[in-house]
Amino acid sequence: MLLEHVLQKPRSWLLAHDTDVIDSQATAQFLTLCAERRQGKPMAQLIGYREFMQYRFMVTPDVLIPRPETELLVETGVQAIESVSAPAILDLGTGSGAVAISLALLRQDAFVVATDLSVPALSVAQQNAQALGARIQWWQGSWYEALPPEGRFDLIVSNPPYIASGDPHLELGDLRFEPVSALTDFADGLSAIRLIIAGAAMHLKPGGQLWLEHGYDQSMAVQNLLRDHGFTGVRSLQDLAGIARVTGGAL
Ligand SMILES: C[S@@+](CC[C@H](N)C(=O)[O-])C[C@H]1O[C@@H](n2cnc3c(N)ncnc32)[C@H](O)[C@@H]1O
Repeated sequence: MLLEHVLQKPRSWLLAHDTDVIDSQATAQFLTLCAERRQGKPMAQLIGYREFMQYRFMVTPDVLIPRPETELLVETGVQAIESVSAPAILDLGTGSGAVAISLALLRQDAFVVATDLSVPALSVAQQNAQALGARIQWWQGSWYEALPPEGRFDLIVSNPPYIASGDPHLELGDLRFEPVSALTDFADGLSAIRLIIAGAAMHLKPGGQLWLEHGYDQSMAVQNLLRDHGFTGVRSLQDLAGIARVTGGAL
C-alpha cells in the first residue's frame, strides 16, 4: 500500500512492473514511510485517507481515523429517519465528518448540521464534504453550545470521546497517534455522553431520535441514562464483532 501510494499506481501495475527501477526521490519517500510505519504510525495517516461507507475520507493527525464499527451508527441513523421527508440531522463531534457526510450523501434531501470543538478537525471535515459533494452546515464549539439557539432535529447522532482517563488502551496502537481529545473525555468515559443525552430534549423534535456510539462495556449505562431522560424504545445494537456498540431511542 505504501508503494502504491508513493508511485500513485495500483497494485496490479506494481506486480506487472516488478523489475522497474524506482527513482531516488520515490525510494526516499517510501523508506521514510516504512520507518514511520515501523514506529506504529497508522496507515490511514501515512497514505492520508480511510474508506468509510464506501467513501474516501481525508485523514490527518487532527482527526480520529473513521472506524468500521461507526458505520453501524450511520446505518442506524439512516433507518431512524426512513419515514421522515427532508429530515434535519445533527452530528455532534464530527471529526473527519465521516458520519455527517455519509448521512448527507445517503439522504440527499436532509438538512445536516455538524459540530466539533476542534477547529483543525472542522477544517478536515469541510474539505471532505467539498471533495465528496456533501452539503453540511458547520458549527464550532462544545456539544450543543456550538449551535444557534433556534432549530430542532429529527435525528441526533454522536460518536463522542468515551475512553476513560488513564485507560491503558490510550497508550496502544493507532490511538497513540490520534488526537487525545477525540478519544477520552478526561473523566469516567461517560461525561460527554451524559451531556449529550441531557441536552437532547432541547434539540430534538417530538418523536426525534438520539443514537450514540459508545465503548464495549457502556451499553447498559447509556440505556439507563436515556431512560432516565424520558427516552422510549431504548435499545442497543451490536457491531460486526458482536459488541453492543450503538445505543439510542426516541423522545
Ligand atoms: C471519537 S471522535 C468521533 C469523530 C467522528 N464523528 C467519527 O466517528 O469518526 C470524537 C470527536 O468529538 C470531538 N469533541 C471532543 N470534545 C468535544 C466537545 N466538548 N464538543 C464537541 N466536540 C467534541 C473531538 O474533537 C472528535 O472530533
